[in-house]
Amino acid sequence: MAIEYDLLIVNGVVVTDTDIQEWDVAIKDEKIAKIVPRGGLKNAKATKTIDAQGGYVMPGGVDAHVHLQEPPLFGKGSTADNYETGSRSAVCGGTTTMVTFAPQKKTEDTLLDTLYATHERAKNNCYIDYSFHLLVGNPSERALSEFKTLREEGISSLKIYMTYEALQLHDGQILDVLLEARKQGITTMVHAENGQVIDWMTAQLEKRKLFAPKYHGSSHPPLAEVEATYRAISLSEFMDTPILIVHVSTPAAAAHIKAAQDRGLPIFAETCPQYLFLTKQDLDQPGFEGAKCVCSPPPRESEADCDVIWEGLADGTFTILSSDHCPFRYNDSETGKKSSINDEYPLGHFKYIPNGCPGIETRLSLTLSANRLDLKKFVEVTCSNPAKLYGLYPRKGALVEGQSDADINIWYAPGQMETFELKNEMLHHDVDYTPFEGRTVKQWPRYTILRGQIVWDKEHGGLLGQKGYGKFINRDASSLAKPLKEEEWQLPL
Ligand SMILES: *[C@@H]1O[C@H](CO)[C@@H](O)[C@H](O)[C@H]1NC(C)=O
Repeated sequence: MAIEYDLLIVNGVVVTDTDIQEWDVAIKDEKIAKIVPRGGLKNAKATKTIDAQGGYVMPGGVDAHVHLQEPPLFGKGSTADNYETGSRSAVCGGTTTMVTFAPQKKTEDTLLDTLYATHERAKNNCYIDYSFHLLVGNPSERALSEFKTLREEGISSLKIYMTYEALQLHDGQILDVLLEARKQGITTMVHAENGQVIDWMTAQLEKRKLFAPKYHGSSHPPLAEVEATYRAISLSEFMDTPILIVHVSTPAAAAHIKAAQDRGLPIFAETCPQYLFLTKQDLDQPGFEGAKCVCSPPPRESEADCDVIWEGLADGTFTILSSDHCPFRYNDSETGKKSSINDEYPLGHFKYIPNGCPGIETRLSLTLSANRLDLKKFVEVTCSNPAKLYGLYPRKGALVEGQSDADINIWYAPGQMETFELKNEMLHHDVDYTPFEGRTVKQWPRYTILRGQIVWDKEHGGLLGQKGYGKFINRDASSLAKPLKEEEWQLPL
């Protein structure tokens, strides 16, 4: 009998956002060809067969919040990972698609040049499939006029900031962006923190000569996030334009989001492992150590805050769980965390510590190991919803016969993998630490498959994928985020 399939996965438990079933999977020409009840492919001929040994078979991870190779935002800090090392780290942790940022500076007029320059950085360098969110630093008339072309170029989302001097937009500019995004069917991501509150708090701390890394947390009070979140929701409602609030960390911000969703507004939200696993204590470490966990928003007060964020994932307040991988090396005084140390501030100054943590490789395993989410919910927030939200579904984030790319993680059956303590030396990023050092890991992908190719085999060689195999994926409009009314926005008179 002729070979019918490229790869079979048998004896697994298929988990999608809607099903947990003992199903076998057949792959052909980079796609999911068939999914049938266990044993149904017994007579099928394939080039290769993997016995999943009762382990979970899930769609490959989709990480929709990744910073790679961006120009400095915080003094001298520049992101440690480039497209090669960042995507390598991703695939070794089971993420097969990433959406990174193409950052436009305030001094630049055009978004298209930003897009093309980012393509150059990514081209032939990626281990996994990718797309970009345009990061709008300057919504000039020209930039706004380019949104239509962005859609033609396969880009259906962008991000704006309500903080950071280098990127902060004022409310009028935000309305400009939302109106044009609405017209073009683009989803707008919002970093919701009130930049002026943060600057004011920073000045208060400086007056008192409080510079240690832990004061990064004090300088970003929950109020700054809560107010900006509510303001972003209000601007979105006024424009009837969907938004996604990125990296939500605060219970009170989550409550505003939930209330808006309960009113039927197209408000979506993201959280990240930092806000599930880290607290203020991780910032309050001896010497400069706390700098490892400086990110924005900062880890919050206590585990009770983390519990609320977990609940928000479970109850649907948070649409997606992303890494916000934004890596800076720790022991690097040129471009890393220690670039904030100088003669004037021998123990560093929190204000100059580059904001961000690595996490693209640990997102899936840490979350699954915590065993706090229903398995279907885990797939929903880490794979399916990011794909739906950003116009990649069902090609990504799903296992649909004939439609989905064969992007798959084969995990272990519960208890089948030996538990280990996470150590940075196990990871594949170009960063000298992980904020999750020492955490207990009970799950890691045994195999990761990208468009039918085995790119990770934990027990036999680890990374098997090739740099350059990952390709740019054209995205459609979001299938989740839509205005309530289809007709054009009217000036309320
Ligand atoms: C930190 O970097 C300095 C300068 O490059 C080097 O001398 C030192 O050994 C490094 N320390 C650690 C712990 O890696």
